[in-house]
Amino acid sequence: MSLIEYKGFGGVRLAADLLGDENDPAVLLVPGIGQGRAGWREVADALVLSGRRVVNLGLRDEQQLAPHVEDLRLVLAQMGSRPVVVAAANGGWVAARALALDGAHLAAGLVVVDMPADEGAIADGLADRVAVPTLVIRGGFSPAQSSATGDAFSAALPMGESADIDDCDLALASDRKEALLGQLLEFLERRQPREAMEFKAGSDPRTLRDAMGCFATGITIVTALDAAGTPVGLTANSFTSVSLEPPLLLVCIANTAGTAPILRDAAHFGVNVLQIGQQPTSNRFAAKGEDRFANQPWAPGQTGVPLLGGSLVSFECQRESLHEAGDHFILVGRVVRAQFEPHRDPLLYFRGKYRRLHFA
Ligand SMILES: Cc1cc2nc3c(=O)[nH]c(=O)nc-3n(C[C@H](O)[C@H](O)[C@H](O)COP(=O)(O)O)c2cc1C
Repeated sequence: MSLIEYKGFGGVRLAADLLGDENDPAVLLVPGIGQGRAGWREVADALVLSGRRVVNLGLRDEQQLAPHVEDLRLVLAQMGSRPVVVAAANGGWVAARALALDGAHLAAGLVVVDMPADEGAIADGLADRVAVPTLVIRGGFSPAQSSATGDAFSAALPMGESADIDDCDLALASDRKEALLGQLLEFLERRQPREAMEFKAGSDPRTLRDAMGCFATGITIVTALDAAGTPVGLTANSFTSVSLEPPLLLVCIANTAGTAPILRDAAHFGVNVLQIGQQPTSNRFAAKGEDRFANQPWAPGQTGVPLLGGSLVSFECQRESLHEAGDHFILVGRVVRAQFEPHRDPLLYFRGKYRRLHFA
């Protein structure tokens, strides 16, 4: 076991025990607020024996839910793969809030054990937004208090299931722990199998995305000017070089992207390949509601397209062709100019995370 630190909200340091083999599927254990890491230790050891990588997280000393929610989202973003989050007591509400909305990017599943009642969360419709497979276990540590809010929560989960350990006659605490582990392992085997994953036509797009994520890429910002001459841009890793003679490249743009109509019409566009220091740029150009060009150094190229300062390479392209392709379109550009900086390291992307070059 080793001890690591994650950066939480506001720069707070969060200690975690790290156990198991880094190549095994990961489980993130979250305690209840005010409980320490010791509560999960036995479960952590058992999970390692069953072939899991375990991060046993310590929470900050704070009673309010909100900072813990932010912390958990930041910890998940720092983990190298999407874990199943297993949370105890009100840590379950922290985890559910952290995974509401875009949780599928952060975690492969959620298990909440002995969640206390929380009328506010039910009234908020929180469960509807938890977009990952979720198991609600009651009576995991001690006999369950029947909780109407807990029932309402699990019933409202889009991908929810529940297990009630009080159904069995469990006088001994060790038997209860065994039963809890059994439920946990069964869920993990189904939702986070140790064997190779498989996508088949008709499977969920998330699995396909994970399959595609096995291809390591760089990151680009695709830019153009809208009709009013205002710069627009979005983060895209679907960049490919296509042809040397003539010089062609392509990017695939989602039809649902806000910038899609502008890129469809643009006679010219730019493709800026990011270097290792530009991770904030990548985040900003992928996030909604941000003024992406505020504080962003850029200059118009010879065709007027916005080129981002500090990029590894900026390609200035004339639109060559456009091909409809499912929920994306393929934009092929003829390179009219490429300015590059050969000395910087690239910003990489692999399995849903930013990476950097590593030479052993
Ligand atoms: C690493 C990464 C790669 C992405 N690659 C693409 C891509 O190739 N094509 C695409 O349409 N969106 C891609 N996106 C998503 C867009 O950047 C994101 O949806 C953005 O908010 C779209 O902005 P818009 O709606 O203002 O156009 C990627 C996001 C990230 C974080």
